Amino acid sequence: MFDLGQFLLSLLLILLSYIVLLYIHKFFTPSNNNNNLPKSYPIIGHLFAASQQKDRFQWITKLLISSPTSTFILHRPFGVKSIQTADPTVVEHILKTRFAIYQKGPFQKGVLKDLLGDGIFNADNETWKFQRQVASYEFNTKSLRKFVENVVESELSNRLLPMLSEAAKNGTVLDLQNILQRFAFDNICKIAFGYDPEYLLPSLPEAKFAVAFEEAVTISTKRFQAFFPILSKIGKFLNIGSEKRLKKAVLEIREFANSLVRKKKQEMMKNSEDTSQETEDLLSRFLKSGLSDEKFVTDIVISFILAGRDTTSAALTWFFWLLHKNKSVEEEILKEIKHKGKQRKQRKEKSSVFEEVKDMVYIHAALCESMRLYPPVAVDLKEAAANDVLPGGIPVKKGTRVSYHPYAMGRLEKLWGPHWAEYRPERWLELEGKRSVVVGEGDRKWRFVARDPYSYPVFQAGPRVCLGKEMAFLQMKRVVAGVLERFRVVPVVEDGFEPVYVPQLTAKMRGGLPVRIEERTGNSSD
Ligand code: HEM
Ligand SMILES: *[C@@H]1O[C@H](CO)[C@@H](O)[C@H](O)[C@H]1NC(C)=O
Ligand SMILES: *[C@@H]1O[C@H](CO)[C@@H](O)[C@H](O)[C@H]1NC(C)=O
Ligand SMILES: *[C@@H]1O[C@H](CO)[C@@H](O)[C@H](O)[C@H]1NC(C)=O
Repeated sequence: MFDLGQFLLSLLLILLSYIVLLYIHKFFTPSNNNNNLPKSYPIIGHLFAASQQKDRFQWITKLLISSPTSTFILHRPFGVKSIQTADPTVVEHILKTRFAIYQKGPFQKGVLKDLLGDGIFNADNETWKFQRQVASYEFNTKSLRKFVENVVESELSNRLLPMLSEAAKNGTVLDLQNILQRFAFDNICKIAFGYDPEYLLPSLPEAKFAVAFEEAVTISTKRFQAFFPILSKIGKFLNIGSEKRLKKAVLEIREFANSLVRKKKQEMMKNSEDTSQETEDLLSRFLKSGLSDEKFVTDIVISFILAGRDTTSAALTWFFWLLHKNKSVEEEILKEIKHKGKQRKQRKEKSSVFEEVKDMVYIHAALCESMRLYPPVAVDLKEAAANDVLPGGIPVKKGTRVSYHPYAMGRLEKLWGPHWAEYRPERWLELEGKRSVVVGEGDRKWRFVARDPYSYPVFQAGPRVCLGKEMAFLQMKRVVAGVLERFRVVPVVEDGFEPVYVPQLTAKMRGGLPVRIEERTGNSSD
């Protein structure tokens, strides 16, 4: 009989001796390749170089930055190539010009199947198109206005601000990242599912769901990065190790999401007699679209939670960190807030928060700038569904993976100039009426100048550009204005502390950001 164990063992032995030989070889040959790319060996590819890196993500970032074409090929074991790029022309090619070819693809879908199922983040073709279409209603101006004026406003004034005020009085240290995740989670559940999970309460309730989500995302990310994806398949088959924990976490998440779906179904049943009760949210829209497959609707719910919870909270955490390091930006923001407040008082009619927030140009720029340095989605992966050639001439065989890197792109001198490392919102702004060099406070009028989305693909670009981009900006800007108007956010860290950027499906600050809150003295300003 064929003995699988013995076969695998021999294979392992052969591989091991091969690696030892390579090691000896490498030891005696000085590395002198001129374009900084590590050496790739037959069979194992870049495994060698990659396994010597403590932080593979930062390693790839460095290679991209030092590559003359901002593109290189990472050789994975057994001849699997994956193309890594930070070149805007390649990004435009895969996100727009040849959109039909560059899909999520079977590899990625396999990795994320357990957590995301067929949800929009893990779908291609018809399954994707259907979800994009139904969901897009949620993001029209009317819905966005309702989101800002009702949902965000009540979460801000009834929960976030009172909590910060209390923390200021007590001198409590808060983990800002955690607080912002809770804030965003309440928001997305309210707007998308019409359900309030009450996650941002003074007691800071531990939600089993949130813990499970954290775990599932961490383990799924590890699956992506694995040089030997077969190992996780074996682990899953045997139900051991991290795969066992993933299974448990996913069960927890699915249970929560599924309970939302069932609750909504019952609600709709009750309301169907009473037509005056229009409950139009994302979830009810999907249920009304004739979807009867409960598993699929549950998948959709999970994708939206991922989209809504972890992106804005990461963006804001890094934003507050950068602000702490650059007081002159904070000054500018306070000026803008004060100016808007003055305008509000001058106007007779009751002004709308929605218009006011939309109009906060400097804060908008400050957020764009912080997401340039710390994008909430660090890397994005596509897989070629047909043969192709990239601009620059790299051939792409069907099945090849192509990743583009917003994090590396935000650090390219080619794109942002020699001072790319500085936090400078003015990059995104122009002064209106250029001659008026009057620096009378509040008289300056900034105009926002957008970058081309392929040089700054923080929200992706092309047909699959982030659906929630505007919603995200409105929410973040309202939080920034609401919080800074009343408080100073002071990180509690040692001198020289540098937070660590953790690129998972969405990026996080490792360990969170401990802060103290200080009430600004005086009423409207400092
Ligand atoms: C700062 C905040 C945000 C950033 C940086 C961001 C970024 C992104 C990125 C990079 C993608 C492409 C992901 C991929 O296909 O691999 C994406 C897709 C998406 N985002 Fe966002 N996002 C943010 C906030 C939000 C919010 C608040 C929502 C609202 C629910 C949202 C909803 C979506 C949806 C539905 C998609 C899928 C679009 C599609 O595949 O057609 N996003 N976002
Ligand atoms: C999507 O459709 C195209 C063309 O019909 C097909 O070649 C491709 O394999 C499909 N992709 C997936 C992931 O099903
Ligand atoms: C702040 O202090 C008050 C009174 O000492 C206490 O009741 C409250 O729980 C504290 N709040 C926080 C957030 O620690
Ligand atoms: C701080 O902000 C100012 C104004 O945007 C900018 O000119 C400066 O370069 C920033 N400093 C750092 C260290 O990022």
